[in-house]
Amino acid sequence: MVDGAALRSLSSGVTLEIAELETPALLVDMERMERNLDRAAAYAGERKLRLRPHVKTHKSPRLAGEQLRRGAVGLTCATPFEAEVMAAGVTTGGEGDRRNDPRPPLDLLLAYPPVGSRRAARLTGLPANVNIIAALDSERALRDLAAAAAVSQREVGVYVEMDLGMHRVGVQDASSLVALARAASDDRWLHFAGMAFYPGHIRVSVEEQDRALGEVSERLDDAIASLERAGLKPPVVSGGSTPTIWRSHEIRGVTEIRPGTYIFNDRTTAEIGACSWDDCALTILATVVSTAVPGQAVVDAGTKSLGREPLRGTPGEGFGALFDRPEVTVRGMSEEHGLLDLSGTSWRPDVGETVRIVPNHVCIVVHLADDVYGVSGDRIVDHWGVEARGR
Ligand SMILES: Cc1ncc(COP(=O)(O)O)c(C=O)c1O
Repeated sequence: MVDGAALRSLSSGVTLEIAELETPALLVDMERMERNLDRAAAYAGERKLRLRPHVKTHKSPRLAGEQLRRGAVGLTCATPFEAEVMAAGVTTGGEGDRRNDPRPPLDLLLAYPPVGSRRAARLTGLPANVNIIAALDSERALRDLAAAAAVSQREVGVYVEMDLGMHRVGVQDASSLVALARAASDDRWLHFAGMAFYPGHIRVSVEEQDRALGEVSERLDDAIASLERAGLKPPVVSGGSTPTIWRSHEIRGVTEIRPGTYIFNDRTTAEIGACSWDDCALTILATVVSTAVPGQAVVDAGTKSLGREPLRGTPGEGFGALFDRPEVTVRGMSEEHGLLDLSGTSWRPDVGETVRIVPNHVCIVVHLADDVYGVSGDRIVDHWGVEARGR
């Protein structure tokens, strides 16, 4: 991806040196990102798991194309708007417009209940060469989806979502799972494409995940057995997250994983041990704007760049940490100010110095920016827009 063509795609107004960027700015280390993409693709290939990355992390058709080019079976979206942006922009790694594209159709999963006629209609209004699947957990969602599919006269797949411990969405028992799977398979336009769950409740360190993974496996055993007894063997069992990514094969019955964060990783992922610090590909370039108050340095990245995301699942302070000095954390913020805690370091930055911050939760940070700069060392080698931002 970092090649002559990418460099030429830099618009003439874009500088090629990080030092010349206005801050705050999002930087993605291209080598690290590509390593993250390659590693997950290799893992999924070795373990015979379908990889369906969640695009909410990067919100970029171009990066989705990189995931598909590496063998992803399709994409996961959180909103039909994101799906629209992907359908319009993804070219599966090649050039051109996919509406006139003879290559295989794009497979998009909406991992969010398609409730409400407008949401369902936006989903079924996607271009004809998109295979649509939606995850749902209620009769109402199924009815809304079926009605929209009938109006659009198109087939739509259904993943029935089950709650396996996250306690956010998902049916609670096997009989509801079977009932929705049957309703989907009985519908003229819908079909039962599989079952889904999200193990987002597992946020302990990777080596401490045994018990939770075992519990999910047991509940999945029961769920799959109930579907099979009803003659509704799920074609796909879709799960997966970044904290559990490398142990996905230990969850019995899973055939598909949907990690999102893994493309960039973040401080939370590193703390959990699902990546190393060196795998954190995205940083926020910020400038020290004040050192007047003792014990701290103030940078120009506050809540409007970093979000206000605590570390999730692991003990730890702050809203981000410096890539080069992880002991220096962002201990407080206002909208445009980030307060670096200097109590654990002898480093005393000068006003005007730049730093790179690894955010606690990268998905929120990307969503707050218009532009991302791809970097190699201190040079900018690429640039893309967060096209599905606000969508
Ligand atoms: C339904 C669903 N699937 C997959 C993911 C991706 O998980 P992660 O961000 O841990 O990679 C998310 C994240 O929020 C999600 O909500």
